Amino acid sequence: MSTHPIGIFDSGVGGTSIWREIHALLPHEHTIYLADSKHAPYGHKGKERIIELCKKNTELLLEKNCKLIVVACNTATTNAIAVLRASYEVPFIGIEPAIKPAALQSKSKAVGILATKGTLSSALFHETSNLHASHLTVIERDGEGIVELIEAGRLDSPEMRSVLNVHLQPMIDANIDYLVLGCSHYPYLMPMLLDILPKHVKIIDSGAAVARQTKAILTKTKLLNTRLIRPKLEFYSNARPDVLKSLLSERAKVEYLDF
Ligand code: DGL
Repeated sequence: MSTHPIGIFDSGVGGTSIWREIHALLPHEHTIYLADSKHAPYGHKGKERIIELCKKNTELLLEKNCKLIVVACNTATTNAIAVLRASYEVPFIGIEPAIKPAALQSKSKAVGILATKGTLSSALFHETSNLHASHLTVIERDGEGIVELIEAGRLDSPEMRSVLNVHLQPMIDANIDYLVLGCSHYPYLMPMLLDILPKHVKIIDSGAAVARQTKAILTKTKLLNTRLIRPKLEFYSNARPDVLKSLLSERAKVEYLDF
């Protein structure tokens, strides 16, 4: 049993969608969230650079005594988690696009995947996609422009709607019945996605599964906090604390930190 915090990082503010699931499932755990917005988006960067940034984030969370690290970013997970696991002793939980459940449940045999270029071009994504979805039509879109707008605080804007229309139209034309959100920023698009997509299209993301896996690994490693304490929830941004705060509750303590 450990009362040390769970560390969570993302290239920016999007991983708060994962933090929310973790906090809901483990309400007594202290958490520290790092939004590396200064270096967002990771999705256009090469693998080596992504690994370097992930190591920087990890080391800061380790300095802050985190007992487990959640890589709340599909791009970082698919490009760097193997190196992180080989380089540090702390357990890591990653997030990957939920292709498997979509492929298993699709009736139209066409699914859409919205993720970053970095995720879609990764070896890990290719492996998972070939394993579970090779019998389906998979419409992949690299979500160009979406993360930039969210990081700029323009989530609910006419520009976002046009960008989404461009990405979703080929999926609608291909008659998808599942859309997989393969980037932790994208759950924030839910209201607009529901508005644009035909009603029968189901949208899935991996946030709840990541929270369940976090709990399972904390339990297995005997690091789960079993005391009913009021948790300390810390959030740090190295670029736009205001945007980070806008996605959290009024009471969330968000600070600027240079990292
Ligand atoms: N939130 C990140 C993800 O899940 C990536 C966004 C980016 O930095 O490109 O992929």
